[in-house]
Amino acid sequence: MGSSSTFNFTILLLPLIVGSLMAASASNFNQDFDITWGDGRGKIINNGEVLTLNLDKASGSGFQSRNEYLYGKIDMQLKLVPGNSAGTVTAYYLSSKGSNWDEIDFEFLGNLSGDPYILHTNVFSQGKGNREQQFYLWFDPTADFHTYSILWNPQRIIFSVDGTPIREFKNMESKGVPFPKNQPMRIYSSLWNADDWATRGGLVKTDWSQAPFTASYRNFKADACVWSNGASSCKSNSPSSASNNNAWFSQELDSTSQQRLQWVQKNYMIYNYCTDAKRFPQGLPTECTMS
Ligand SMILES: *[C@@H]1O[C@H](CO)[C@@H](O)[C@H](O)[C@H]1NC(C)=O
Repeated sequence: MGSSSTFNFTILLLPLIVGSLMAASASNFNQDFDITWGDGRGKIINNGEVLTLNLDKASGSGFQSRNEYLYGKIDMQLKLVPGNSAGTVTAYYLSSKGSNWDEIDFEFLGNLSGDPYILHTNVFSQGKGNREQQFYLWFDPTADFHTYSILWNPQRIIFSVDGTPIREFKNMESKGVPFPKNQPMRIYSSLWNADDWATRGGLVKTDWSQAPFTASYRNFKADACVWSNGASSCKSNSPSSASNNNAWFSQELDSTSQQRLQWVQKNYMIYNYCTDAKRFPQGLPTECTMS
């Protein structure tokens, strides 16, 4: 092909390329995620707008983000397995790799029809977790899509549901508590069978006559520092150099958000490792004893 026809070719393609970049910014699962397991049980549909995971007796399914992130505000809308979802778990989390991994977890434990899901959360830093907090939700998470967000900046990790903070994990490195800060993480999600523990501690088993079980995802949004080839897309890890739309980088809970958080913790929290003194006979973890 001569150079002039290459030139023409480029001119013709340019609008298409620009068009596809614009579509990508409006959340396209084809662009941002790969279905990683489940042999066809995970699907991207509606031109990339919706992703569904399925679980049947033979297998669950899962996906992961193409990008790795080192700090960000990441929103995803999920609609959980409806009806009798007992025994099923939908996990949605950020994780790095290796034996000293960092991880920020949402896990949704299914239940019998009409009985409440449990939203289970955890934070791992350098391979150590054991920081579970569990909640009921103030709505039926199977009736519609709801937004589950992770804000991860150098000072704190905030878990939110429809914009209401449910949990904050502060950076307490100064007290000797490791904080996730230098291992980039990918987004992962999976739907699988965990009827040995998930529902009422494993008492209620998965009813396979209800299979396939389906969880759906849409409206992914990441305001985040993308990590690639050893470098961050954010200029530096200092807020001053972060651009205007990077308010999340230094975001903290304002007083209204603090009140919302307390409302959730008072009315919907069903387990908090920080109040489980029996579990920690040598004393509660350090981060629990500092406010
Ligand atoms: C399921 O429902 C029971 C009864 O309301 C409740 O005790 C339990 O916490 C619920 N959630 C799970 C995941 O077991």
